[in-house]
Amino acid sequence: MRHRDPAWNPATGAAGAGLPRVAWGKGAFVYDSAGRRYLDGSGGPAVFCLGHGHEEVNAAITRQLERIAHGYRYSFTSDPLEELEALITAAAGPAYGAMVMVSGGSEAVESALKIALQYHSARGEPSRRRFIARRRSWHGNTLGALAVSDFLARRAPFEGALVEASFVPSVNAYRPPAGVAPAALAAHAAAELEAEILALGPARVAAFIFEPVVGAAGGAVPAPPGYAAAVRAVCDRHGVLLIADEVMCGSGRCGSWRALAHDGVEPDLFAIAKGLAGGYLPLGAAVYHRRVAEVIDRVHGGPLTGHTFTGHTAACAAGVAVQTIVRRERLVERVAADGPRLLAALAAELGGIEAVGDIRGRGFFAGIEFVADRATRRPFAPELGLAGRVGRAALAAGLICYPLSGNVDGVQGDAVLIAPPFNATAAELEELVALLGGAVRTALAGLAR
Ligand SMILES: Cc1ncc(COP(=O)(O)O)c(C=O)c1O
Repeated sequence: MRHRDPAWNPATGAAGAGLPRVAWGKGAFVYDSAGRRYLDGSGGPAVFCLGHGHEEVNAAITRQLERIAHGYRYSFTSDPLEELEALITAAAGPAYGAMVMVSGGSEAVESALKIALQYHSARGEPSRRRFIARRRSWHGNTLGALAVSDFLARRAPFEGALVEASFVPSVNAYRPPAGVAPAALAAHAAAELEAEILALGPARVAAFIFEPVVGAAGGAVPAPPGYAAAVRAVCDRHGVLLIADEVMCGSGRCGSWRALAHDGVEPDLFAIAKGLAGGYLPLGAAVYHRRVAEVIDRVHGGPLTGHTFTGHTAACAAGVAVQTIVRRERLVERVAADGPRLLAALAAELGGIEAVGDIRGRGFFAGIEFVADRATRRPFAPELGLAGRVGRAALAAGLICYPLSGNVDGVQGDAVLIAPPFNATAAELEELVALLGGAVRTALAGLAR
């Protein structure tokens, strides 16, 4: 794939030359070494839930570093590790007391996949090795996580070395399969999953993994109502574990701490990362249900996965500080209340632009999808690089957003993600929406030239 964009390639995720040099950040703003200010409208890739330079978080990390950076997991437990586990269980629900701490989203997904395999082995069903995932989804860059991801440009150079996985179609109310009414979409998609499980043979299937709200590969695409419950039922019927990848959409981003809590569904495992420590230090977790824990604890004594930095003490201290603030300031509730206002403001600013096909999302996780033709929902030609243009125009205007492409079929499609800090002020959200509107108009005007 040709590298179209010198600054940032939304298809491959490759950073190019010409990026500004970051200097410092405060709240919703980032400053570069030339003194330019950027409003962080996407929290980088939906990470910085408390914005930047939060003094309480920095102080907690500093305090921990002054004592000890890390107590290695084979020798020690620690207060920050145990406090963070308790905070996660309190936020996720009492069924989720078991988890493996890791250093990011890919490791969290990788760990969830491995724990699912371990569970089946422990139960005496080692034939259950196959994962089923969805098209137009992104689960990470390690080989296992990449194997269940369907982000064409990021996979292509590694094909042939990826563990074989099965894929069912993406589920997007804006782009339903021909002949499927919106109200029938959830049942249709669940039936597709069941057909795939039956075609493979249930005794071969370990787990189904999906993003409750698709991020980088889709542009904040929420599952339709009833979908999560329907796939939960399908998985239960066939002994298949359900893994929710909440790396981007979880930890409060969508207005409930667990993204799937919105649907009233408990997955067997879920992966979290980005917002867990808000980007202050690298941190993620694979969290699993007590019915999974009971089996692997009994047979193997615990999860057979982990890393040198599992439960890194300073990273856990960052996570404790971030989650304590999120809880104390009721920020998830705030995201739930203000999310619809953000979507409405985006609709007011962008809805009149002919090339804006869909504005969607949940909480502080919004996606704007661009189309060359509103009536047919035809995407722009990929050669035009519209998403990259929007990203560049935004950056030039002082706004960080998250452009993405290939969301329609892996190659075609342009969208942009918005994921502001949970504590952004009303004025900052207003500025975000206005700057994005300007960037979209500039990028579209650039197409005509
Ligand atoms: C849904 C999802 N899962 C997993 C990952 C991988 O996370 P990381 O980049 O921290 O390894 C990402 C990253 O964007 C993601 O959005």
